[in-house]
Amino acid sequence: MTADQPIGVFDSGVGGLSVLRQIRERLPGEDLLYVADSGHAPYGHRPAHAIEARSIAIGDFLLARGAKALVVACNTATAAAIHVIRARYGLPVVGIEPAVKPAVAATRSGVIGVLATHGTLKSPRFAGLVERFGAHARVMVQSCPGLVERIEAGDLESMETRRLLEAYVRPLLDGGADTLVLGCTHYPFLASLLAELAGPEVAVVEPGAAVARHLAHRLEESGLLRPRADGGTERFWTSGDLAQLNLLLPRLWPRPARAEAFTS
Ligand code: DGL
Repeated sequence: MTADQPIGVFDSGVGGLSVLRQIRERLPGEDLLYVADSGHAPYGHRPAHAIEARSIAIGDFLLARGAKALVVACNTATAAAIHVIRARYGLPVVGIEPAVKPAVAATRSGVIGVLATHGTLKSPRFAGLVERFGAHARVMVQSCPGLVERIEAGDLESMETRRLLEAYVRPLLDGGADTLVLGCTHYPFLASLLAELAGPEVAVVEPGAAVARHLAHRLEESGLLRPRADGGTERFWTSGDLAQLNLLLPRLWPRPARAEAFTS
């Protein structure tokens, strides 16, 4: 394994691009490989064994393309499968989970609201997070069926998306939450809509930057951090509709990009 090899990143779809943006900002010299498993999204209601199988298919693909580290840029896949990924591959593996700890530290009302998929919220991993860090606050949770599908379709602003998001956020606000945790990597793409709905008094926490920081640290301690300060490249694959991703990419990724088909 050498520092010149790329970093492999994946999600059930385009959500992980919110994490990839933070990785690119933090590590401008790294080459990045990204797989959007949009052909199998959403993961939110899939059984853990199905998510494990998808994670292995994608992990094998990324390793075959030389990945020196893997980032599971999906809360649902982290909850369901990161133990399997860690056991299978002998390289740094970084996952993502809802930012309960920073939200509990930040709340003034003593109530936080966590927006995430059904799979994440029902996982033992999430229960453990709340047990460890949630003792000093009331932790309200809300799964958001239908929201990932809207984001996958590139529908970030329509009345229908706004109506759905409002239906999920309103009960949390009414319950006194002053801090909202985006526990799904798709949701940061609705940040402006959410800010409008929740207002300036409500803080929104998402852990993408913390994941990028943690990845940099893991690469450094393994001697795999690429020393270049810029010039990193990106490649994108999707198991879903290629034309649709190529239409959507300019809105979700800040540089010119073309996706390729992923068929595993
Ligand atoms: N982006 C994913 C997450 O962070 C999952 C969305 C889904 O496929 O349900 O949980």
